[in-house]
Amino acid sequence: MRTQVGIVGAGPAGLMLAHLLHLAGVESVVLEARSRAYVEQRVRAGVLEQGTVDLLVESGVGERLLRERLVHHGIELRFDGRRHRIDLHALTGGRTISVYGQQEVVKDLIAARHAAGGPLLFEVDDVTLDGIDGDRPAVSFRHGGAAQRLECAAVAGCDGFHGVCRPAVPPGVLREYPRDYTFAWLGVLAAVAPSTEEVVYSRHERGFALHSMRSPRVSRLYLQVDATDSLEAWPDDRIWAELQVRLAADGWTLHEGPIIERAIAPLRSFVVEPMQHGRLYLAGDAAHIVPPTGAKGMNLAIADVRVLARGLVELCRGGGPALLDAYSETRLRRVWQAQQFSSWMTSMLHRLPDDGDWQGRLRLAELRYTVGSHAASTSLAERYVGLDPE
Ligand code: APR
Ligand code: PHB
Repeated sequence: MRTQVGIVGAGPAGLMLAHLLHLAGVESVVLEARSRAYVEQRVRAGVLEQGTVDLLVESGVGERLLRERLVHHGIELRFDGRRHRIDLHALTGGRTISVYGQQEVVKDLIAARHAAGGPLLFEVDDVTLDGIDGDRPAVSFRHGGAAQRLECAAVAGCDGFHGVCRPAVPPGVLREYPRDYTFAWLGVLAAVAPSTEEVVYSRHERGFALHSMRSPRVSRLYLQVDATDSLEAWPDDRIWAELQVRLAADGWTLHEGPIIERAIAPLRSFVVEPMQHGRLYLAGDAAHIVPPTGAKGMNLAIADVRVLARGLVELCRGGGPALLDAYSETRLRRVWQAQQFSSWMTSMLHRLPDDGDWQGRLRLAELRYTVGSHAASTSLAERYVGLDPE
């Protein structure tokens, strides 16, 4: 098989890249290890920056998003049992964020891919890359039992943190910046109307809690738990009791309901530099992971491929590799901004196991300053709604 761009991974990064290339008349083939049902049902993040929404809408895949999203003009920071609103809209000259599940974005992009008739193969095995150092890279894989080889002009590694593309780069070329945490997030979906209109981030001495939502009838809630905790340690009544304590605020009630989905995800920070080698370009979680506290993961993935698509289009139209050569440098500036923001939000809001009273007091002081100062609230707001991708 031949195509212009081989794309490994059908998450938001790979699917959006295929879509943007298609709009520019560049052919691609998308290879995904999992089944369509699996990627469409996998519950992930749910906050879209305005720039992400704008790109989805402008590129023609935002119709259902505009109908079903929940537009939020602010977020709430909760600590000491008190509620503090950060007015994102007022502080950023009218920008907002949208709550819309990542798997809904994935469904919309798969539908667009099928409507365009573009190749998208699910359940592929044994993906390997070769020739990425030259200008004729290839992706080999098995599909439906048959071995295949896809030759292309460039390969996009959009296969997430555990994918095969990043490890395909020869040793010594990439530098990795990993950071692990001693805690994780237990995330649940509950069939109950959200008890809040805006996303609530709560710091409590027992640990962090987050109240988000997916629809007027479905709540999305998270608890900071130990990285070693298993789901068996968290029966429903313990989850609700802990949420009640950590989210408690005067005059506010948390409504409980049946828990319909649950998972524990470790927190991780990771960046690889550069995000490219030869004719392989890494995007999304394959190149970087942020802890979810800043809600940046999916937005970074989409911003990566917006920049990458432009470079690939130029290359495929014979315009040369200048834009592509600058891809990693362009994106790493924003990636590190997002790391800094996510790390700051994470440490300010969580109870870290080695926090003594002193650190705890400093984190509270930081929170009080953030909600009390116009300058500090503005700084949070402009980064939460998202910086320009370049
Ligand atoms: N071959 C083919 N596909 C693979 C392989 C492989 N060897 N390894 C992994 N994949 C697929 C995964 O099954 C997954 O569907 O690559 C896809 C990667 O998608 P995501 O993990 O969703 O990553 P990305 O598109 O970069 O989106 C980042 O996902 O984890 C969240 O918080 C993160 O919101 C962010 C978003
Ligand atoms: C979510 O709705 O899943 C969500 C919201 C805010 C975050 C992370 C996740 O910071």
